[in-house]
Amino acid sequence: MSPMAAPQFGVISGAQVQGALAGREKQLVELVEAAYRWHGVGESVNPPSYFLRFPDRPTARIIALPASLGGDVRVDGLKWISSFPDNVQVGLPRASAVLILNDPATGYPFACLESSIISATRTAASAALAAKHLTRGRARPARVGFVGTGLIARYVHAFLVGTDWSFDEVGIHDLSADSADGFRRYLDRAGTAGRITVHDSAKGVLLASDLVVFTTIAARPHVHDPSWFDHGPVVLHVSLRDLAPEVLLRAVNIVDDIEHCLKAETSPHLAEQLTGNRDFLAGTLADVICGRITVPEDRPVVFSPFGLGVLDLAVGKYVYDQVAHSGDLHVVDDFFHDLNRYG
Ligand SMILES: NC(=O)c1ccc[n+]([C@@H]2O[C@H](COP(=O)([O-])OP(=O)(O)OC[C@H]3O[C@@H](n4cnc5c(N)ncnc54)[C@H](O)[C@@H]3O)[C@@H](O)[C@H]2O)c1
Repeated sequence: MSPMAAPQFGVISGAQVQGALAGREKQLVELVEAAYRWHGVGESVNPPSYFLRFPDRPTARIIALPASLGGDVRVDGLKWISSFPDNVQVGLPRASAVLILNDPATGYPFACLESSIISATRTAASAALAAKHLTRGRARPARVGFVGTGLIARYVHAFLVGTDWSFDEVGIHDLSADSADGFRRYLDRAGTAGRITVHDSAKGVLLASDLVVFTTIAARPHVHDPSWFDHGPVVLHVSLRDLAPEVLLRAVNIVDDIEHCLKAETSPHLAEQLTGNRDFLAGTLADVICGRITVPEDRPVVFSPFGLGVLDLAVGKYVYDQVAHSGDLHVVDDFFHDLNRYG
């Protein structure tokens, strides 16, 4: 048996990741849709995320998301993502991450990618995909609202605009005036916002919006009144813990993956605990995409995406292929060493 060539290991920087993803919003939303479809038909392995928490740093966590994706992508891997909310005070993003890609034939890891950008990108692409499918059959929302206006809000807005959404009005609310101001300045720079209104409450944003994006870091529900949703908005509940169970129980609830989402004290998990069942769930986004369920046009709809590792793999492999194809992959020489079994 002739020995295989030694596997290579490449490292991809955030700058390279951003270069590979910039301006590709439509393509990336299609890729994320394909990943959801593959996941929906079992062409994936996506075990529960593992949460590392610290007794001495209760607001911080690091999450491991192992996954395997089939379909046209065929890659295994692990995302390892930290959330340290206090970073924002010292001028660093809350989240930092790496993604390891493994070769499905040998198991060898072949790349390590900066992954905060990949994570934000797949999250925003998933939100834009949900906005598209959950508003099907409705008048296209022209009033969007953001509750929590940090980095993920910026990515979601960029993906909506990059997939041909335009808005007459953008409502924003954040507990931090600095964050609201920073997002407002981003919107001004982007030049694509309509009228921008800064609200002093989530209620103000909700009542003024037909499409609402929650991207806070709230640990428990702070929106309790279901009547704020009586006009039937589509809500992208990206931060997962903002809405009280009472709100969900009056809405059409769509998740990315039922088993994943009903964990870790998310709002859907709280609703399950309150009711003792899962009857309040209509289904998954893959069900909507594939036409297995139809979303009513006249009721509030809440999409709660737990965030699947398979999406990170899809986007990460896309980045790897772009960088490798361009010839700019930084290979670490001799990364795998002592490969001869008997020395
Ligand atoms: N579901 C997913 O797949 C997924 C993926 C990535 C991030 N996220 C979540 O998105 C959220 C936002 O991440 P980020 O990186 O933008 O964080 P960030 O720290 O940059 O921004 C969060 C903002 O929310 C504000 N905020 C906190 N509580 C609030 C409240 N009750 N009302 C209004 N504003 C409030 C903060 O002041 C801050 O400006 C996090 O909860 C993160 O876990 C979800």
